[in-house]
Amino acid sequence: QQARMVVDKAFKIAEVDKRIYGSFIEHLGRAVYGGIYEPSHPGADNLGFRNDVKDLVRQLNVPIIRYPGGNFVSGYNWEDGVGPVEQRSKRLDLAWRALEPNEVGTNEFMNWAKEVGSEVMMAVNLGTRGVDAARNLLEYCNHPEGSYWSDLRRSHGYEQPHKIKTWCLGNEMDGPWQIGQKTPVEYGRLAYETAKAMRLVDPDIELVSCGSSSTAMPTFPEWEAVTLDHTYDVADFVSLHQYYGNRDNDTANYLARSMDMEHFIRTVIATCDYIKAKKRSKKTMYLSFDEWNVWYHSNQADRKIEPWSVGPPQLEDVYNFEDALLVGSMLITLLRHADRVKMACMAQLVNVIAPIMTENGGRAWKQTIFYPYMHASIYGRGVSLQPVVESPVYDAQDYTDVPYLDSAVVYNEAEEELTIFAVNRHLEEALELKCDVRGFENYRVIEHIVLEHDNLKVANTANEEKVKPHSHGDAACENGYVNTRLSKASWNVIRLK
Ligand code: AHR
Repeated sequence: QQARMVVDKAFKIAEVDKRIYGSFIEHLGRAVYGGIYEPSHPGADNLGFRNDVKDLVRQLNVPIIRYPGGNFVSGYNWEDGVGPVEQRSKRLDLAWRALEPNEVGTNEFMNWAKEVGSEVMMAVNLGTRGVDAARNLLEYCNHPEGSYWSDLRRSHGYEQPHKIKTWCLGNEMDGPWQIGQKTPVEYGRLAYETAKAMRLVDPDIELVSCGSSSTAMPTFPEWEAVTLDHTYDVADFVSLHQYYGNRDNDTANYLARSMDMEHFIRTVIATCDYIKAKKRSKKTMYLSFDEWNVWYHSNQADRKIEPWSVGPPQLEDVYNFEDALLVGSMLITLLRHADRVKMACMAQLVNVIAPIMTENGGRAWKQTIFYPYMHASIYGRGVSLQPVVESPVYDAQDYTDVPYLDSAVVYNEAEEELTIFAVNRHLEEALELKCDVRGFENYRVIEHIVLEHDNLKVANTANEEKVKPHSHGDAACENGYVNTRLSKASWNVIRLK
């Protein structure tokens, strides 16, 4: 099989907003309790947060982390999570039917996020609560001093405001599973009024209006059209959420799922632009793909979890090699839409459908999906270029004309570095790739990272990292052309300088 590509500086999509490499920590399962926070762990810091987990998060170079949910936020009283820890109440978390001890709340999380070098994307509860709780939380977090909520924060030991810039107006409000689900009109009105009040507290914030929970929602994309009709003027982003799984064990079809993600993004852009036209607006709505990943391995196990415990092992998907390939393609899809997708969060970060896993009291380790995420986050900064691609295609169960070669290209002007991200979706054969980079004079390949394995179902464990990248890819650049053989079923990062 052979594929060709042309890459040129002139084919600019847009500057990549680094926030597309965001992630997510929800009060869910062992993400917080037993994940980032485990005071009894030998490697915990003086506040109870695990240093080994912090190190792994830093390796991923995560620019922004969404918090505290997710479904959790729709039943959360943020006031329960601030003030002296010994006075905080335990609450029933109805979203996940667990016990929330509130040992970690807004201030502890803000501290932790700062330590790992991330901004926070804070979500407000528009399920059981509304305008009042949202404006109070914002005042608590961002107002400098001299008002009830800002002075309360200072009395809690946080003299300086947290200055949280990005706020989500609720979570998945279209979903029947959501506490306080809304119709699109109910949500649109509530989100608009909440946004209005929040902007009066702090005009510098950015707001995310809730979009559909997946392309499979019966209300998609009418939800976007109706809600944005209300929130277009006050919101900066609309959210998208999507998870995939290989439930039928049909890998060729599974690896093509990023085409659904592509269709999702295109449809949301079209809907945003329809509302823009309808409103005669000059403003462009951006997309925040603030939940995306593979999620299906743990579905059965989750049905057996006993309710009302602290930090139960929920949503603990153990990812295999093929999952890493799809994650690679999802990252590629985000990069190819760098002009409109300005934020995205791999959901989630630790233990819960996550690239990082922990043993209680033991080790922290990397899942297979850790690697494509880390590579994109590190090398995918700069300008996203539109590669012109000619690739052989295949037909799968749900998709036709699926290109074997899935690719995105980023040019980092400051570092004078060009990076080609490529997945070979072919499960049996290598793909010969010839890439025209004549516009990049005297560039040569400095590294060709490959993630490959003969067994698509192999996974990592705390004891053994069976799936990890090597740098022995054969890409070489001669006379302005990169030639390489992309191994069957592989994730590739070809770096030129
Ligand atoms: O990420 C897990 C859950 O998936 C989130 O709580 C929810 O928003 C989505 O349904």
